[in-house]
Amino acid sequence: MNKLKVGMIGLGTVGSGVYKTLQEVDTVEIVKIGVKNINKPRSVDVPSEILTDNPFDIVNDPSIDVVVELIGGVEPAWEYISTAIKNGKHIVTANKELLAKKGEELFNLSEKYNRVCLYEAAIAGGIPIIMPIKTILAGNKINKIQAILNGTTNYILTKMDTDGASYEDVLREAQALGYAETDPTGDVEGFDAAYKITTLATIAFKQRIKIENVYREGITKIRTEDMAHANELGYKIKLIANASIDEKGNADVRVHPMLVSKNTMLAHIDYVTNAVAISGHPIGNIVLSGPGAGEFPTASSVVGDILAIQAENGTTDYMLPMMRCHHHNTATPIKIDDTYNKYYISITAPNAIGVIAKIGTICANKNISLASIVQREVSGNNTAVITVITEKCQERLIKEVVNELDNCTVESLIRVAE
Ligand code: HSE
Repeated sequence: MNKLKVGMIGLGTVGSGVYKTLQEVDTVEIVKIGVKNINKPRSVDVPSEILTDNPFDIVNDPSIDVVVELIGGVEPAWEYISTAIKNGKHIVTANKELLAKKGEELFNLSEKYNRVCLYEAAIAGGIPIIMPIKTILAGNKINKIQAILNGTTNYILTKMDTDGASYEDVLREAQALGYAETDPTGDVEGFDAAYKITTLATIAFKQRIKIENVYREGITKIRTEDMAHANELGYKIKLIANASIDEKGNADVRVHPMLVSKNTMLAHIDYVTNAVAISGHPIGNIVLSGPGAGEFPTASSVVGDILAIQAENGTTDYMLPMMRCHHHNTATPIKIDDTYNKYYISITAPNAIGVIAKIGTICANKNISLASIVQREVSGNNTAVITVITEKCQERLIKEVVNELDNCTVESLIRVAE
């Protein structure tokens, strides 16, 4: 039997997991691994003769069948991957940013050279989601995804909730434990989740979603008080990647914090765990959950992709047809101001007669119905903390409400998941 010859670019956490896992697989041979620094001490014992600090040694090596890209970021990853495809290699990647920003180019190039590009590890790490959507769920019309796709932010929100701690304190602790990066922007501002939902919605809806049309808000403004109020009202606060599409192909794709009812599974996905809830016909509703990152969970997805290629390599002229890109239309984006949501509003107001009446009147004038309104405390400085949950209304109108609440301070405005 001819072994599948693999060249890896990147030997960090995920790369090490892939290397270790493939030691048990006798149908795959790792021919070369591209690293930045050959002499760096590593947790994994790799023969030095297969290491190279020049990734072009890999993408230009005629003996290599598959290039596994595990360095992340757009450049130089795109240069390596595009060269590899032009040289006739199949691709396995965990690069969510590249997929979100250059997916169309990547899949057009793969098709032109009749190569496959698999990326199970790029979205929700170890959770099998890409292959299920492309294969066993292929007969479905998926119209909604709600997902927790970022472990770092889910860890921070869970700790804020359980410990009653501030965002800043939990972030510092998460950084010390290695759960959050020194520069946490990519995770806490929602970029990571936005990259992932861009690709996930594209394949689920079979319509291309452009990253520039994905609305994004991070978790940095979530207050301990919001966590407490949400809990009292029967909710948790989660960073939700949300995507829906209507019959006409209008797509609403976004990442932002949401109050999620404790009656739903997503509310109970805690710490670094990820989850993806999918609704469609004929399947109905399903939720897949599991580890969204980490050495071995992510390696599981990468190795699965490698073995899918290995199983068909050399057996057909058109490998893995169901795993290819089949959509060439771009969905029409719905602007955030045109979306309809329920809202949680936390207001600090002077403890004066008529404040609650005024809030009610401003909302009523815009035809916004209130689901609940609670005055929580009157502190020493004669100030009331009022928490409102609205019924569904247009985002544009809720922003007008916030502007018109001129004698109050709106401390938080958070969307509420249905
Ligand atoms: N930074 C990501 C997270 C993991 O925190 O979930 C890799 O995609």
